[in-house]
Amino acid sequence: MNGINGTLIVPGDKSISHRAAILASLSTGKTVIDNFLFSEDCLRTLDAFQEMGVQITKRNQQVIVESEGPSKFLPAKNAIDLGNSGTTARLLAGVLSAMPFSTVIKGDSSLSSRPMKRVTEPLSMMGAKFKFLQRDGHLPMTIEGGRLKQIDYEMPVASAQVKSAVLLAALTGQVHVSVTEQTKSRDHTERMLEAYGIHIEDKNGTITLRENQVLHAKNIEVPGDFSSAAYWIAAAVITPGSELTIEHVGLNPTRIGFLNVLKRMGASIEIIEKLDAMNEPVGTIIVRYSTLNATSLEIDEIPTLIDEIPILALVATQAEGTSHFHHLEELRFKETDRIKATVLGLEELGADIQMKDDGMVIQGRTRLHGGVVKTFHDHRIAMTAMIASLITSGDVTVDDQDCVKISYPNFFEQLNEFI
Ligand code: S3P
Repeated sequence: MNGINGTLIVPGDKSISHRAAILASLSTGKTVIDNFLFSEDCLRTLDAFQEMGVQITKRNQQVIVESEGPSKFLPAKNAIDLGNSGTTARLLAGVLSAMPFSTVIKGDSSLSSRPMKRVTEPLSMMGAKFKFLQRDGHLPMTIEGGRLKQIDYEMPVASAQVKSAVLLAALTGQVHVSVTEQTKSRDHTERMLEAYGIHIEDKNGTITLRENQVLHAKNIEVPGDFSSAAYWIAAAVITPGSELTIEHVGLNPTRIGFLNVLKRMGASIEIIEKLDAMNEPVGTIIVRYSTLNATSLEIDEIPTLIDEIPILALVATQAEGTSHFHHLEELRFKETDRIKATVLGLEELGADIQMKDDGMVIQGRTRLHGGVVKTFHDHRIAMTAMIASLITSGDVTVDDQDCVKISYPNFFEQLNEFI
């Protein structure tokens, strides 16, 4: 391996694609969404609105949404299956809370083991009714929507999904709401609403959305997904001889904690262009192989790199010294218990990594070797293992390659271009 060299474009952002599908469906008129991420999770969001009567056409990298707004949504004929998608489940729960009908939503075994009370609690306070059909606090559940009332909600966990569920319920139900966050989570919903001309204010951690606002269709362009770019940034930083350019990547400050931490570790990273696409900063990243030092994560930066912990842990195996990753309790509630899956996966490849209740401690630098990594069907674990394969002394295989389709359908194609 002579390094990871060249120029790369990553697919559209997963979080922004979900929100584009939702806000386009909630608008009246025709929306063209460019660079939509056609991954399994985002397709679940499109399907859900299609099942409620919204006209959706997919072509190449575009999605065309034609909607008459939420007042014309129809009850889905069957339970809506959300597959593996936590973002769809939670954001959709917000929208459905304001619908004058009942809907059943369900998911695969991973999604059915993820907590839903974090959204049903605030949405119940707004007036929606929920019934868990099998296990308390988990999918499948029935959502009985209706007329909502105003709440001022203090978030107990830093979660963009919960924040967005409450904002979307208020928007759809046309009521005023305020949401207060202790630590700022990704703000794509707020930014996109603002781009639609909606009055939304973020003052000292309290986001306020005014009542009686409606969305009129507006074309949307989705930037490249920083979380997908993170795999290649890591690949270039840890593989000797690398210089990689990644174009048109979303650089929203609430998403790029991984870049900031890598810079702190000594990585050579440059951003050469910055433009705005629908209120989201977008740029080109140039990253080079670098000698790295260990680091510790601060509690406030966790939400800005929450999906990058597995790949950051891999990078830490190549940094000199002991890296301390704490305050990561939320990782236990992701597609799988990501603390455990990350530690087991990297241990299999020879890393010196210790699991803690709230995270992990990694001793670097270690020479990694080949192995068979158990993904627990988690896309981010599979991609981390495959990036590790660029520097291991033997072959790395994963027990499930298919799970990458959740967020990055062409991951293996792009990886093959480098090996
Ligand atoms: C997401 C928010 C985060 C993140 C997930 C996508 C979103 O989850 O982990 O991949 O699009 O709002 P939480 O809100 O549970 O932190």
